[in-house]
Amino acid sequence: MPAQPLRAAEAAASSLLAAVELHSPDAVNLIRQHLVPAVAHFSDYIADHGKGSYIWTTDGQKHLDMGAGIGVVSTGHSHPKVVKAIQDQAARIIHPQQNIFPAHPPMAALLDRLLKICPSQLTRFFFANSGSEAIDNAMKIARAHTGKQNIICFENSFHGRTYGAMAITTSKTYYRQGFAPLVPSVTVAPYPYCLHCKARACAPDGDDWYKVAPNIPPYEPYSARRCCDGPLEAMVAPNTPPYQPYSARRCCNGPLEAMEWVLKQQTAPSETAAVIVEPILGEGGFLTPPPSFLPGLRKLCDKHGLLLILDEVQSGVARTGKWWGHQHMLGEDEQPDIMTFAKGIAAGFPFAGLAMKDHVKENLVPGTLGGTYGGGPLACAAAVATLDVIEGEGLLQNAEARGRQLVAGLLELANRFPIIDVRGRGLMVAAEFGAPDGGLKAPYGLAAKVTKACGKRNMILLSAGARETVRFLPPLTVNEAEIDTALGILSEALEEVFGKG
Ligand SMILES: Cc1ncc(COP(=O)(O)O)c(C=O)c1O
Repeated sequence: MPAQPLRAAEAAASSLLAAVELHSPDAVNLIRQHLVPAVAHFSDYIADHGKGSYIWTTDGQKHLDMGAGIGVVSTGHSHPKVVKAIQDQAARIIHPQQNIFPAHPPMAALLDRLLKICPSQLTRFFFANSGSEAIDNAMKIARAHTGKQNIICFENSFHGRTYGAMAITTSKTYYRQGFAPLVPSVTVAPYPYCLHCKARACAPDGDDWYKVAPNIPPYEPYSARRCCDGPLEAMVAPNTPPYQPYSARRCCNGPLEAMEWVLKQQTAPSETAAVIVEPILGEGGFLTPPPSFLPGLRKLCDKHGLLLILDEVQSGVARTGKWWGHQHMLGEDEQPDIMTFAKGIAAGFPFAGLAMKDHVKENLVPGTLGGTYGGGPLACAAAVATLDVIEGEGLLQNAEARGRQLVAGLLELANRFPIIDVRGRGLMVAAEFGAPDGGLKAPYGLAAKVTKACGKRNMILLSAGARETVRFLPPLTVNEAEIDTALGILSEALEEVFGKG
């Protein structure tokens, strides 16, 4: 029987809490009656407490967490040093407010740390409370600094849910559905998704496919031309096993060329403020660009006078085995103009911000940016403690080592199940499914079936992107045994979904 909403009197008498405490099987549905239905829920459990890589729910079950609160609890759930830093700071002062007092000791300590780990030219900071808010502020700064209004973002991007961030988010229509009109002056450019590269799918067979365009002489009549629905659909994708590290992956550089056309045909450089991109696409499916892409983009921005904004909200703060995801691809002399961060920076305490080159401050007028809670001492103290733990416990190295273990395990599973790509860096690793018969087009809903089958086995695993992909984002403290357990659970879940491999 569906749960009935509680009457006001019952709610006032804490009966929701009683339902939770008595472990009523209907408790979660009773609570849902009072939450907006627009937030999607992965499970029907009620979280109680967490430690390291595990979360316990109110019914006493223990869940292995391969999602880390969507890449947030970098130091594991309730790391004692982060907890203590928050508790100690709460006892001193909770909210001096940034307009009233520009700084406090935890902010000074955090700035010291950030100046050490951020790209060397990013020396100005703005603090906020969520990734979306950091993104909106990056857009505002780019417009104010350049005096231009257009922003270029990419296909498959996810930048958040506020109006600015939503307008540059293209990974799924449902992030925007029903919310128009969106913030205008946004142009979407193609992102290199080699596995489903449109140029590649139309190219002839053979190893030199990337050098030959489908329509060049000798002239083929249109009736004979192949398209992505043709025989090539069944061809092996560039990223299938044997695994090729990203550094060795080729790209036709089509997306960079497409950007030049975007600037010629859709948004003139003289009207374009910035290009914004995630170094490794997060919600879009952990798409990891070929090595030439970000350096090419940096050059292109320089050539046309555009700011390059890197959204490191998901890929930043040691997640990929380096402090920032882009550092796998961009050198010291190729730094972004603005970089946003959030998620892993404070291990679960809501905190976000952006770092920018000093000259970007020009044209920023006092009073035009702000926020009641931004840069608060609890958040800064949590962030300092988080960065200390990442350094002190060698979590950059752990992300690298455990990431390699995870990739190796997923590639083994790819021999038995229709996994057509394993990608990512460090502990930001995804596996994309193809069709059970080996084709590239997976049936809709496959990833959700896999994550559900993992959920049944008490493992939290998230999906990503509009295609059928699952993503691993465990705490950076995850150990070897936990990764083995996760791979074992995934293997069982895949057997349930696909049959024995
Ligand atoms: C790359 C990226 N940017 C921005 C955001 C938005 O962050 P928040 O949910 O904290 O607003 C996210 C969230 O998943 C993200 O992955």
